[in-house]
This record gives sequence, structure tokens and C-alpha cells, in this order.
Amino acid sequence: MPSNISTTTEARIIDGKAIATAIRAEVKEQAQAFTSRTGIRPRIVFILVGTNPASEVYVRNKGTTSRESGFDSETIRYDESVSEFELLQKIAALNADPLTHAILCQLPLPKHISEEHVIEAIDPAKDIDGFHPVNIGRLSIGKGDYFAPCTPAGIMEMMIREGIETSGKHVVIVGRSNIVGKPLAALLVQKAAGANAVVTLAHTGAGSRLPEFTRSADILIAAMGVPHAITRDMVAPGAVVIDVGMNRISDPSKPSGTRLTGDVDYDEVKFVASRITPVPGGVGPMTIAMVMKNTLLAAERQKG
Ligand code: GUN
Repeated sequence: MPSNISTTTEARIIDGKAIATAIRAEVKEQAQAFTSRTGIRPRIVFILVGTNPASEVYVRNKGTTSRESGFDSETIRYDESVSEFELLQKIAALNADPLTHAILCQLPLPKHISEEHVIEAIDPAKDIDGFHPVNIGRLSIGKGDYFAPCTPAGIMEMMIREGIETSGKHVVIVGRSNIVGKPLAALLVQKAAGANAVVTLAHTGAGSRLPEFTRSADILIAAMGVPHAITRDMVAPGAVVIDVGMNRISDPSKPSGTRLTGDVDYDEVKFVASRITPVPGGVGPMTIAMVMKNTLLAAERQKG
């Protein structure tokens, strides 16, 4: 085909897996330097309650990656029936243990355990999830030592490394969760390099007006947990689209009968967006890379 005839253009794929691999290699090198300098190995403890299959996979992956990064890692498992008291006692012991630098309690927890109590029990200096109110508060203020939650931090890092300009851009986030939407909005509005965006935090309250908001985005971030909710007509031509969705849907063509899919109708949206993240292989690997980065940071801070 002559080079001056173009076919329908497709968005450039943002390869989160490759970016995450690079970050993990950097963290591994920095962890080696830290350990040879101090004689201390960063140590992360994962707490897993019950047998939620998705949580099992996430914790297994984070444990494997921790060991690959040169960290010491342990997973403490509890039966679904564990009491909140027992869990809080374990967290208190880990807070007091100078050899443990990072504590990650995988959510969701069984209904009889208060996630708030658990999150608030973790020492903010070891809360590498960045869920403790002290960390969230400092993130909102933009000052002091804090940990940014790993998925929002991974999205920020991904945009910086991809050379996606956010300053003065209109970023529309769909989804107001405490884990993604709200902290991501707080990071993006900071007056800082890699941020300084004008942010709209959209959610179910937008109702039928949602497409009106999403179409005004230079950068659209889908984090509502609804498969394929962002359709082609909701995206402005040339927008950057970041898909945080991790939805397991039925797919009889797969041996497992299911597959992972995002919140974006990728096969259609790729024809209007300028860049797009795939699911899997987009935001997911970035989250794990940021768990590693935050764990090393926690160890460095606790060393003093
Ligand atoms: N469940 C879903 N995402 C997360 C996360 O980032 N951290 C924890 N602890 N639990 C989760």
C-alpha cells in the first residue's frame, strides 16, 4: 500500500506491563543498594482473610514480586471467621515489629470486620496502601511524608513515563472510590510536575449527563467497575483513555469460561482515542510496581 494512503487510525497502546517491568527493575536495584548500605532487607507482610479468588491472585502476585524485588515477604492467612479483635491484635504486633516495614491487608474483608477499623489500626508509616486517614489527609494537603494509594500513584507514574502532559488538561475521572477515584483526583490537582490538571470527578450521580462530561475530557480515566461502560460516543477524538476496570466476565471461548475486561469498550474506543491502556496489561501491573516502590520507601523512611 502506498505510504500516503492511511487506514483507520488506531490509538497507540500504553504498555503498562513494560513500564511496570522497568520500575520494578529500578526498585530492585535501589533495594539492593539499600540492603548493602544498611544490612536491612525491606519486609512486607500481607494479610489475607478468607478465600476470595481475586484477592488470592492479587496477594500471590504481590508476594512473588516482593521476593523478586529482593524484599522479605510473608503472607498471613486467616479463616473467613477470624474476629476483628484478632486481626487488630496482629496488626498491633506488626506495627511494633521494627523488622516489618510495610503492612498490606487485602480488601475486601468479611462483613463482620470493619475495614475502617483495620485501615486505621495500621501505622501510617507502614501503610504502603496509602489508605490511612493520615496518608489520605497529607496527600490532600500535598505536604509531609505520605504514601499515595498504589493504583492512583501507578496511573500518575504511567502518564509521566509516557510523556502525557497533564498540566492545564481536563482530566475526567469516572468513579469516586476511596481506593482510586478520590485519591487520583487529589493527586492530579496538586500544583506539581506531572499533575496540575483541571479535574472533574464524575460518578453515578451524573446520570444521563455522564457522556456530556466524558466527552469534554482530554484525558479520560474509567474507574467505576462496570464492564465496557465507556463507549465510543462518550470519548472525544484524540483523547487519552486510561482503563482501571478489572471485571471478570463470562467468555465461553476460554478454557476457564471467563476473561478479564475493563470499564472501556476497548475494541471501539481505540478508533477515537489517541492512546489507550489495555486490560489486562495496563494499569494492573503499575499498581503492583507501586506496592514495591512504596515498600522500599517505607523501609528507607523507617531506617531514618
Ligand atoms: N483490594 C483491591 N485493591 C486493593 C488495594 O490496592 N489494596 C488492598 N489492600 N486491597 C485491595
